[in-house]
Amino acid sequence: MGTVSDVAAHTHDGIDWATRLTTMRRGDELDADTNRAVARRLVRALPDHPTVVDVGSGAGGMGVAFAEALAARGGGTVVLVDAVPELLDAATTATRAAAAHETAADHAVRVRPVLADLATERPADIAGPAHLVWASGVVHHLPDERRMVADLVAALAPGGWLALREGGLTTRFLPWDLGVGEPGLADRLAHARAEWFVRMRESMPGAVRLPVGWNVVLAEAGLAEVTSFSNLVDRPAPATQAVREWAVDQLRWLADVGGDRLHPADRHTLTRLLDPADPAYLALRDDVFLLSATTVYVGRKP
Ligand SMILES: C[S@@+](CC[C@H](N)C(=O)[O-])C[C@H]1O[C@@H](n2cnc3c(N)ncnc32)[C@H](O)[C@@H]1O
Repeated sequence: MGTVSDVAAHTHDGIDWATRLTTMRRGDELDADTNRAVARRLVRALPDHPTVVDVGSGAGGMGVAFAEALAARGGGTVVLVDAVPELLDAATTATRAAAAHETAADHAVRVRPVLADLATERPADIAGPAHLVWASGVVHHLPDERRMVADLVAALAPGGWLALREGGLTTRFLPWDLGVGEPGLADRLAHARAEWFVRMRESMPGAVRLPVGWNVVLAEAGLAEVTSFSNLVDRPAPATQAVREWAVDQLRWLADVGGDRLHPADRHTLTRLLDPADPAYLALRDDVFLLSATTVYVGRKP
């Protein structure tokens, strides 16, 4: 399927991120309201004309949200860091468009892209000092997560904030019984994905286990005022076309990472659900939805 490659082109996780651009854009579209709320909340605590660094910026959903939030409070700089050129280009284009759209002349938002592998280049050297470092779903793709967090803290100006979006609840989007194959497919997919995740981390050269939760990691990295908050994304059924397309992408990804860990009967069910010519095609269903909860861990550099 080309989603998970044998050889990582730019990163350390074996994932071919460039092929995920369309999926990531769809996710950003569905998360836009949540992203806006998170960005507004985080920039509220920053000084005037701050620098916000978004590491592992993906398709640019939060870059856009930060550009809008900064424009609304007098401007600043958004630095986008990613190892994958196709994603960094997409994030830069989207964030610059948001900055241009929202910005009055005296509220300018600058956008600076930085192409870099976070495992080999220190954020402090390429993107600091920052008043806010935002890292969503990226630290767990680095071999040594504790070291990565320490590197992100090093990129903060004194008094600056680190915000990690990690964890939360498993995203749900399928009814319990699809009427095709055995009931409970969503749980078996989640189980297979969890196993894949363990192997994905183990197989990174230089991988180090992280035997504690993120609040402990932030506190150990020297941050104060460590806390977390969570956001719900709730797109009920019957879902919009955007949710249906996202659900097909998501199911394809879960089928891909689940691979041989899934029972052949479930793999057969997935083939049917993912076939646009099959009456069981997922996007035709009126009972697909999107329900997810994401957690943001924050801490302040003394
Ligand atoms: C799960 S995506 C998260 C994207 C975005 N932050 C979000 O929350 O939607 C992980 C991102 O981290 C980037 N990434 C993974 N490993 C990286 C590395 N070693 N250096 C820089 N970026 C990396 C990927 O290219 C991708 O954009």
